[in-house]
Amino acid sequence: MNLLIINGSPKAERSHTMHITNAFVRGFGEDARVETVELYRSDIKPCTGCFYCWKSGTGKCAISDDVRRIHSKITAADVIIFSFPLYFFGVPSQVKALIDRSLPLMVPYMSTSDDPHRASFHEFRDTSITDKKLVVISSCGYVETEPMYSALLTHLDLILRGRKYTPILCAQGEIFIAEHPIRQRESYLADIEKAGREFSENLCLSDETIEKISKPILTSKGFGILASNHWLPKKEDGGH
Ligand SMILES: Cc1cc2nc3c(=O)[nH]c(=O)nc-3n(C[C@H](O)[C@H](O)[C@H](O)COP(=O)(O)O)c2cc1C
Repeated sequence: MNLLIINGSPKAERSHTMHITNAFVRGFGEDARVETVELYRSDIKPCTGCFYCWKSGTGKCAISDDVRRIHSKITAADVIIFSFPLYFFGVPSQVKALIDRSLPLMVPYMSTSDDPHRASFHEFRDTSITDKKLVVISSCGYVETEPMYSALLTHLDLILRGRKYTPILCAQGEIFIAEHPIRQRESYLADIEKAGREFSENLCLSDETIEKISKPILTSKGFGILASNHWLPKKEDGGH
């Protein structure tokens, strides 16, 4: 199985979210072929809105940068794992830039449907893209994922036009770099690895698994203490 991780954290390998993503991928076992694209180390220019990709009929973008290379990796993958932090209830800017630059992957003609998520939409140029499995892994800094992720989930539903994807959303992201609590963190990551194994076998997660990995890792009181200590200015940061 070919797995493509698209890491949309500006912190690259220091990303909290990548702790979850790496545990999930470990669950696929050693036979999985894994490739990672670091979005913040890639040259992704913003879409200029020129519509060359549609007007020329070529589906090619007028901008020459790393996006074409990323699109060909997406085409070659069986499972695409989008890994990114929540930024202001949405995606970080480089992730949004890549989403905007996906216009060439779609045809200009308008399709319509009765499904509210697909009311009017643009079909993919290469319809085999819809056979790929998409997993969205994200962490955020607050205590709970609800309502933090509600805007992002609506956004993704509209972009994907009601097509299924597997969201793995984790609040309390600072837990992955805090000194404590090791036991709860390791237990959560062990559950994520099991979820990865389940996904590699069934290409989806059961409702029980989703429920298990969606629970906040710490209570709000426990996380409150951890977060307050974490943000306390340290002497080495210039604090007192
Ligand atoms: C610019 C910025 C915006 C953020 N916005 C939110 C937010 O809207 N809600 C939230 O819960 N956390 C927010 N956070 C916290 C991050 O989502 C959280 O620290 C996350 O775990 C970082 O993941 P990463 O290490 O993979 O980049 C924000 C952080 C930054 C730097």
